[in-house]
Amino acid sequence: MTDITSPSHRHTSAARGEQVKVLLVEDSCDYAELVCDMLEESAPELSVTTRSGIADAQAALSGEKFDCVIMDLGLPDARGLTGMRRLVACAPENPVVVLTGRDDDVIGLEAVKEGAQDYLVKARTDGDLLARAISYAIERKSVALELARHADQVQAFAERQRDFVASASHELRTPLTSIMGYLELVLDDPDADPQESRGHVEVAYRNSQRLLALVEDLLTVNGLDTGNLPLTPAAVDGREILAPAADLAQGLCALAGVSFEYEPLAAGVIVQADAARTTKVLENLLGNAVKFTPPDGSVHLRAQARDGRLEIEVGDTGIGIPANDIPHIFERFFRSPDAVRKAVPGTGLGLSIAKSLIEAQSGGITVASRPGEGTTFTVSLPLTLEQSWPGSS
Ligand SMILES: Nc1ncnc2c1ncn2[C@@H]1O[C@H](COP(=O)(O)OP(=O)(O)OP(=O)(O)O)[C@@H](O)[C@H]1O
Ligand SMILES: [Mg+2]
Repeated sequence: MTDITSPSHRHTSAARGEQVKVLLVEDSCDYAELVCDMLEESAPELSVTTRSGIADAQAALSGEKFDCVIMDLGLPDARGLTGMRRLVACAPENPVVVLTGRDDDVIGLEAVKEGAQDYLVKARTDGDLLARAISYAIERKSVALELARHADQVQAFAERQRDFVASASHELRTPLTSIMGYLELVLDDPDADPQESRGHVEVAYRNSQRLLALVEDLLTVNGLDTGNLPLTPAAVDGREILAPAADLAQGLCALAGVSFEYEPLAAGVIVQADAARTTKVLENLLGNAVKFTPPDGSVHLRAQARDGRLEIEVGDTGIGIPANDIPHIFERFFRSPDAVRKAVPGTGLGLSIAKSLIEAQSGGITVASRPGEGTTFTVSLPLTLEQSWPGSS
């Protein structure tokens, strides 16, 4: 007796100890009965459902899940490979074993090329052979599906890489073009007013800074992708993370005419985090808050320990984020059309980096926003164990 529940059936019903369901498509009642008898003897764990034509088989497949299809190639409503193609098209995940009426290897091999897992010649088939063919067909199909899934993943990864290179090149070109343009203005007119030339060089310098920040972001993204971005989490006082970000925000808010509210964290709240990188995350969130808040608005930074975590809130009373954009803001290079239209500077990398960095530290980042009213990002990080369980020593 063939053991169709062998350990090799990792993903199948048989592997889960369930009954293996086989759909037999055969128009000869006598032969269908013979197959059922043979299988009952050789593999009693199989349950066989019989249909006499392709249309009936399609209906059965659309209403019920089968582990394998065995089909005759000489059916009344579709002869030869046509019927098999129709069945494979309507249930592409199903393994198919073909039964050929004649001793015909050519059509059997054709069937395999077109998606069948195996073929058997009726006159030379017995129960054990059939049960083994079903078992191998299920296994082979599951391996083929797994390989197809991997191939899809590889292709999706390659596409993402191509998109990334295209977007990165585009973003690098913008400041570089500006730098070259302003330097050319200076070089082309040696007699220009020194004050005017200085203005051009200053613009070129600002764009160089932007270029450098962008290259640093790209290196961070690459480090995150390749696992080459060492994070050094340590027990650190939450104030050490918040204070430098608050200092930076204070200056940005003053320049932008936006008020800034900072509620310093109580002493002794100790988190497990890479302080420098977490501060950078807060700086990006605060930078966004300032960029997207019109003058006279306000930005705040506050934090509290709750349920074993430090929750840091960066909020603003700015333009807000449209609901449609919320699912995309953590994607690389995403900038809401509003930001692009209003020419707010940025490349759309900040939040994707922030999310990866926070999640790599067992933390989380969430957002709540109302267009026209403002946005609040909340970063949460685990407190050290001693802090989470005050009684423990
Ligand atoms: N506080 C906010 N208010 C309104 N929109 C925001 C806010 N924060 C982020 N966004 C939206 O999310 C987008 C992505 O933000 P992210 O920080 O990733 O990119 P960026 O600030 O445009 O560029 P970068 O940070 O790379 O310089 C922004 O372009 C903006 O559309
Ligand atoms: Mg940003």
